[in-house]
Amino acid sequence: MAYSTPQPDLSPWRRSFPALQEELDGRPLVYFDNPGGTQVPQQVIDRVVDYYQRANANVHGPFLTSRRTDHVIADAHAGMADLLGGAPEEIVFGQNMTTLTFAVSRSIGRELQPGDEIVVTVLDHDANVAPWRMLAEDRGLILRTVDIHPEDCTLNWDDFTAKVNQRTRLVAVGWASNAVGTINDLRCVREITQRVGAWMYLDAVQGVPHLPCDVRELGCDFLVCSAYKFFGPHMGILWARADLLERLTPYKVRPASEAIPWRWETGTQNHEAQAGLLGTLDYLCSIGAAQGAAGGRRQLLLAAMEAIAAYERGLAAYLIERLREIPGLRIYGISDPARLAERVPTVACTLDGVPTPELGLALGKAGINTWTGHYYAISLVERLGLLEQGGMLRIGLAHYNTVEEIDRLLDELQRIARSARL
Ligand SMILES: Cc1ncc(COP(=O)(O)O)c(C=O)c1O
Repeated sequence: MAYSTPQPDLSPWRRSFPALQEELDGRPLVYFDNPGGTQVPQQVIDRVVDYYQRANANVHGPFLTSRRTDHVIADAHAGMADLLGGAPEEIVFGQNMTTLTFAVSRSIGRELQPGDEIVVTVLDHDANVAPWRMLAEDRGLILRTVDIHPEDCTLNWDDFTAKVNQRTRLVAVGWASNAVGTINDLRCVREITQRVGAWMYLDAVQGVPHLPCDVRELGCDFLVCSAYKFFGPHMGILWARADLLERLTPYKVRPASEAIPWRWETGTQNHEAQAGLLGTLDYLCSIGAAQGAAGGRRQLLLAAMEAIAAYERGLAAYLIERLREIPGLRIYGISDPARLAERVPTVACTLDGVPTPELGLALGKAGINTWTGHYYAISLVERLGLLEQGGMLRIGLAHYNTVEEIDRLLDELQRIARSARL
């Protein structure tokens, strides 16, 4: 099938990513492991090097390198606020999404009483389940789990409504599934949580890399994401409403500042990662500017994410359509071409007659990076009955991927499917 490159064509931006030059057996590596972590553009590498060469110090010192560090930190908070649509004092950096969630869940727990309820979902990564499950154990809370419709891996809204009641204090939900790509309808979640006055804790780790983000529009009270999933360094980010960051009690040392967001950033932060994150934002801004966007950093970032979403939707449409032609291949999640706006370009599948781990291994030998297993979306893979057989193959696209790379994957899968049928 002839297929034209989706528009706007973002594939020329590949050149910004040195890792995409890596080869195996004379052919460029194909990075479809993006939901597990993305590659970084040169701007990130340059910023990290520059930080170490010119600014490496601790904060608030009366000397040049410390002042430069303070500047990097202030700009990283402002930049991340521009990406998410919040205010700089609402941005908290930390080691990763998981660690931030365990920390803030403990502070939230101080406000809850035995018998209060928390709602989680089957669709979520365990990083937005285990902290709440363990908090419930610690504080005598009731944990309820919302089911999915297994046929398309969307949340079961009847079950959702039934699981939330007047004792529900917090609903932990994802923006997009890291396994099957489902985008949850957050307006529904907001409506349900508002009805009972519960907080919405949004795991946006797989939303922020693919979609324009506006925390006020999403209607969440807390949002967590990870820079390494959107072309940045290994670090996590928490956004929370300023009044909540003021109201809740962080676990902190006494001499540390009481002002937000600093009271939430325990110990010395990863300054070089914050510098690198500024490189990510510069890179995304250049995509936004190339789309003809004008205005400040927020406008450029929104334009970049609109372009990324459009390009990736085209790639996903092609990938899914062609995967469906492979005999014995089964896609989990939304595969209806009319519903592609309800998913991010993360596609999970199995192939009859081929154990999933072997599938990943064969693709890896061919220079195509994918993931197999449950990727910590353990409740979902269990619910689909796929845990024992090694989970699913996950093909996760990013804007630096191309139609040609998808064709290489499809050729390889066709070859594997043929030999399984022999
Ligand atoms: C949806 C989702 N939530 C949470 C996480 C955990 O993120 P981190 O590695 O930053 O703790 C991941 C990582 O894969 C994820 O995909």
